[in-house]
Amino acid sequence: MNLSEAREVRQPLGLPNHWPATLHPGVLGGLDLPTPFLATDLAMIAERLRRFAGALPQVQPFYAVKCNSAPEVLNTVAEHASSFEVASLGELRMLQELGVNPGDVLYSNTVKPASHVVGAAEAGVWRFAADSEDELGKIARCAPGSAVYIRVRVDDSTSVFPLSRKFGAEAQEARALLLMARELGLEPYGLTFHVGSQCVATSAWVQAIASMGRVMRQLSDDGIRITMLNMGGGFPARYDGPVPSIDDIGDTVNRALDGLLPYQPSLIAAEPGRHIVAESAVMVASVLGREQRAGEDWIYLDVSAYHGLIETHQTVGQWRYPLWTSRHDHGVAAHVPFTVTGPTCDSADTMFYGAPLPCTMAEGDRVFIASAGAYTLSYASHFNGFPPPRPFFVGT
Ligand SMILES: Cc1ncc(COP(=O)(O)O)c(C=O)c1O
Repeated sequence: MNLSEAREVRQPLGLPNHWPATLHPGVLGGLDLPTPFLATDLAMIAERLRRFAGALPQVQPFYAVKCNSAPEVLNTVAEHASSFEVASLGELRMLQELGVNPGDVLYSNTVKPASHVVGAAEAGVWRFAADSEDELGKIARCAPGSAVYIRVRVDDSTSVFPLSRKFGAEAQEARALLLMARELGLEPYGLTFHVGSQCVATSAWVQAIASMGRVMRQLSDDGIRITMLNMGGGFPARYDGPVPSIDDIGDTVNRALDGLLPYQPSLIAAEPGRHIVAESAVMVASVLGREQRAGEDWIYLDVSAYHGLIETHQTVGQWRYPLWTSRHDHGVAAHVPFTVTGPTCDSADTMFYGAPLPCTMAEGDRVFIASAGAYTLSYASHFNGFPPPRPFFVGT
């Protein structure tokens, strides 16, 4: 591509509005820290939790630990009256280290190692998710008398990361499963669903809540009144495109909870992850080299899909984080499409295709990857001997 063709490429005009001022490239570029690092503003996480509570006042949040389990993040969440959802005994142990009461924690992974169920119950967890007869049998065996909530499959086609192929009983099976739980001496405690991670249509929550209302009516005929309706996660964060705001989601969900359920369960829960932490962090990487490969411009960063950016893979190259660079001419110089790859010997660690960046990019420049607080460090490996990005916190 020559420079006149390059001028046809979309020119970013400025930083996206939602780029946190505390993590502005000018601020992060001035830090004397080796790259890669992940800078997180904890005050933003606190603000997100406050806004979530304001938009959904009848909903108790149980933050999904898997999304970002840095102790600093978990402590911030705990300080703001939120509890937690765990997927394993390992996540529960992290919370115990921080002094969280296991009795306040939900264990929402539906297929669990038996030893984790035993360990969690011994620690004081008393609420477990299930979506099958076998899992109910396991919970009855390993944590007798516990409370169980059934995960019901819902339409997650309006999410970027659907989950319902792997998890969830059909709505018509949920009733039989809660009846079976009662026969096994477990408490038929509730229902849960997940509209898929990064859900971008508020109608998904309406359909899901309507489906839960139908199951609740059937259960009433069996004399079962559920205590908890758990809406799971899915609340979106801003990356490079518009998403419904938490206030819009709140308006829709509150109306659905008031209008579509036969009665109000005493606990309406949610398990937000991404919405709470994604926008609070910026990944900072350095350009190791710039190459031309078969006519394409490539840059090689010191961070990769295996070092926190695996979500770029899960969407077959379509997942876009807001990008900025340390080039003085960023937003001014012509921008050309770059293939942005990682430092490892694996070609599959390529993160971005056609990313418009200044045509002047060179070794040593820094690349700032925003909205990087969710599902990044919690996935990062040491693949090929490259360590994961170091965590760095502001807003404490
Ligand atoms: C059971 C459960 N709850 C909550 C979440 C968090 O979802 P999100 O990050 O979309 O809010 C997940 C994500 O996979 C999950 O599996």
